[in-house]
Amino acid sequence: MPFLDDQALQELGERAVVVRPAAFPDALAAAARAEAQGLGGRVRAGTGKGRAVSDEVRRDETLWVEPHGEGALATFARHVEALRLELNRGAYLGLTGFELQLARYAPGGFYAAHRDTFRADEARRITAIAYLNPGWEPAHGGALRLHLDGGAVDVAPRAGTLVVFRSHLVLHEVLPATVERYALTAWLRAGG
Ligand code: OGA
Ligand code: MN
Repeated sequence: MPFLDDQALQELGERAVVVRPAAFPDALAAAARAEAQGLGGRVRAGTGKGRAVSDEVRRDETLWVEPHGEGALATFARHVEALRLELNRGAYLGLTGFELQLARYAPGGFYAAHRDTFRADEARRITAIAYLNPGWEPAHGGALRLHLDGGAVDVAPRAGTLVVFRSHLVLHEVLPATVERYALTAWLRAGG
């Protein structure tokens, strides 16, 4: 089953964002979350590549995920590669590679409004985020707020949900979470 069918690709073109609940199995999200929790101190604050990270802007901890190896996190990396091929086939984006980052938000964590190409990398074309939080409830906060032409849209960071958007177009933020929140964010790149 593709991550993005024809309708989803069309939505990505027209609205710059597509949200797919139940895009991947809960069991995979749970396994990745357990693996992430096992990484402990390897998930660190301030590892954004070449980015001056201020805790007024983002309060999370991150780790780059490599596509090789065993385990659920590496499985996600292989899914991102499949998504890259789908996007190239269906939307002719010419994506040549990706980076994948695990982010952990402790209670109180947030990320202020930003675009993913802001002070970062112009080669980033598509952002894809997979959430690893089973049993997420509204009281847990932590929504991804997308600022779209028609107004703000909030996405709960529930296990199984995949959000895909055009990195340079979509202003977005993470609202404060009240419980630990895990996300895997991929940036798919064109060119170098
Ligand atoms: C990011 C980001 C959103 C989220 O890491 O750049 O915007 O919902 N993450 O975790
Ligand atoms: Mn972002």
